[in-house]
Amino acid sequence: MPFRACFLYIRSMSTHAALKEAFEQAGQGHVFRFWDRLIEEEREALCAQAAQIDLSEIDRLVKELVFGDDAHGIDLSDLEPAPFIPLPQNGGNDAEWSKARQLGEEALQAGRVAAFVVAGGQGTRLGFDGPKGTYPVTPVRKHSLFQVFAEKIKAASDRYGKTIPWFIMTSNLNYEPTVRFFEQHAYFGLDEDSVHFFQQGLMPAVDYDGKILLETPGRIAMTPDGHGGALRALVRSGAVAKMEESGIDVLSYFQVDNPLVKCIDPAFIGFHLQANSEMSSKMLPKRHSKEKLGHFCIQRDKTVIVEYSDMPDELAEATDENGTLRYLAGSIAIHTMSRDFIKRMGGNDTATSLPFHRADKKILTVTDEGHPMQPESPNGVKFEMFVFDALPFAKQPVILETAREDDFSPVKNAEGADSPQTCKEDQLREFTRWLKAAGVEIETDGTGLPAVTFEISPLFADSETTFVDAWSKLANPPAISEGLVIE
Ligand code: UD1
Repeated sequence: MPFRACFLYIRSMSTHAALKEAFEQAGQGHVFRFWDRLIEEEREALCAQAAQIDLSEIDRLVKELVFGDDAHGIDLSDLEPAPFIPLPQNGGNDAEWSKARQLGEEALQAGRVAAFVVAGGQGTRLGFDGPKGTYPVTPVRKHSLFQVFAEKIKAASDRYGKTIPWFIMTSNLNYEPTVRFFEQHAYFGLDEDSVHFFQQGLMPAVDYDGKILLETPGRIAMTPDGHGGALRALVRSGAVAKMEESGIDVLSYFQVDNPLVKCIDPAFIGFHLQANSEMSSKMLPKRHSKEKLGHFCIQRDKTVIVEYSDMPDELAEATDENGTLRYLAGSIAIHTMSRDFIKRMGGNDTATSLPFHRADKKILTVTDEGHPMQPESPNGVKFEMFVFDALPFAKQPVILETAREDDFSPVKNAEGADSPQTCKEDQLREFTRWLKAAGVEIETDGTGLPAVTFEISPLFADSETTFVDAWSKLANPPAISEGLVIE
């Protein structure tokens, strides 16, 4: 045997022996059951995966979340609806909003803010093959979600005179194609050095007997640890250190599925800073009790979000004397976080570690003979952390109302609610409102949807105010017609 092969062989045998022993003691020895038929590289790779797994954590999660009485592990006691700061048009104080906006603008001008998108998910519901951020979402040019965010971030950087760095969390499922997509599109005009990709952590999936699943005879079924893994990953990837070096202490967090999001919102940042908050969140009134948005609640003086799937019907449907939902405040997964809070939450201190949730999934695995098996119904459990579980740890959390039509229209499902169609229509309604605000007459139906499909580039304008201003400067404003792109 050549020297290197011999060295690798001896190393993998000794690593293997130690790992196998540990896995056997933890009742997970089956992970190595195909060892004899693996080639050297596969053995190395399997050992590397196995070495990442915290067996005592898996043991605890299996006991709590797979076998436990309360398998979803959610504490629903003592819940009350959470208060929030309303929009000026809904009773909020105009002067306070202006003050907050100004404070946020000052922070942006001082270069204290970075943008952050979580894009490590699989997007299975949409049925789109590829990283979700590459989904062609705009009405005319079919620009991707990533391009829309990139252009909004560029517009804000130009406006405030400071480059806003952008952190992008991917996972083992989509890191390479995501980076390639940005390279192919020359980073959508952003400075390449201001875009930072990193991967979130992984957790092994287990079957209903609590046994770690193999994806192939030589590979453990490892899946992303949920967007809550962002806090650990921001620390471990060096993103927090980069923020420290460049004087950034505020992170503007959003999800990859929502092209309407104000990636950078000065008023939100201002309210967060003014309150000395560690983590702030946007809310909007739920359309109905079954809308799939997490619920903002207070639980024993702490702000918490109870996921829609965990909220008992009697609470989700409860109304006050006016017939308004008691738990009205829905989370649209837009947060502002302070850097020091991320550092504290993403470190190794178990007192600040986020809980794991159980997700029942169809997990590709192997038969006893080692043949691939794609299950037709859920065959196991993934463990995921949710970023909003950081809220109860945060000092002075602020919950701020936002206008749905200006901040939220996600692409989640192939059809129906929150689909490409509803999202396209919501983009068109927003563009139309901006045009009307600029005094342009444009025919719409009763919902504000225009008769023609057109598009406004975020580089031309990214809000009503910036649109009215930019439009007023056009020497020859175009007529609004089918396929028009205002850029
Ligand atoms: C999420 C929120 C819900 C909120 C709604 C608003 C959860 C559990 N629920 O629901 O409270 O009201 O959005 O739209 O988040 N992601 C990762 N890594 C992962 C898993 C997900 O980066 O391991 C990212 C996805 O890429 C996506 C985001 O997290 O950007 C949301 O994930 P998804 O599973 O689609 O959440 P929803 O069920 O839509």
